[in-house]
Amino acid sequence: MKGIVFVKFNEFIEELWGEDFWDEILGEAELPSEGIYTTVGTYDDLELFTLIGLVVEKKNISAKDVQFAFGTWVFKELYNMAPKGVHDFKDIFEFLHAVQDFIHIEVKKLNPDALIPEFEFLSETSNKLSFHYQSPRQLCFFCEGIVHGLAEHTGQKIKVSQSECEHEGGHRCVLDVEKV
Ligand code: HEM
Repeated sequence: MKGIVFVKFNEFIEELWGEDFWDEILGEAELPSEGIYTTVGTYDDLELFTLIGLVVEKKNISAKDVQFAFGTWVFKELYNMAPKGVHDFKDIFEFLHAVQDFIHIEVKKLNPDALIPEFEFLSETSNKLSFHYQSPRQLCFFCEGIVHGLAEHTGQKIKVSQSECEHEGGHRCVLDVEKV
């Protein structure tokens, strides 16, 4: 994944538990990059999973909660670096379509080596939208968190859950976003 994800994960962890904790997990992780991340670099996805694994172990929280919290936190950071035009989408459902149809496409144009998920929209009513999150990285809980962060940004109250999840015996991950 692109360095931006790692740089932001570093900031997120330091904001929560300080620089010493970040240094502690880096010391144990023995990463090929040694944790020296730059936004322009690209790093092995495995490094992120190793770091998340160490947070899980040391802070006694689930990987799901770490990914969700990081996704919620990182939305505003993604938003600030988003391509022109993104700032026009005010409604959460409209924004989610824009991620698939426009935002991630622009991200990929600017960074051909960016690894982004595909969303297949399955159903939509005025208050509920379901989509299939497709990615070999299987970061569906991170995705749920980003949706949550997006809702905080639009000021809409939502519930996000998964009716199917690969981590829980399903064949795919289906995210259900409900306006409440
Ligand atoms: C604010 C606009 C957004 C921008 C600029 C943006 C940009 C990016 C970037 C740069 C990456 C990393 C690519 C890489 O590491 O190679 C990424 C990954 C990702 N994005 Fe977005 N994104 C945006 C909104 C969203 C939203 C709203 C969602 C959720 C519905 C989302 C879901 C994801 C997920 C889950 C990944 C992780 C990679 C994967 O699952 O395969 N993004 N995005």
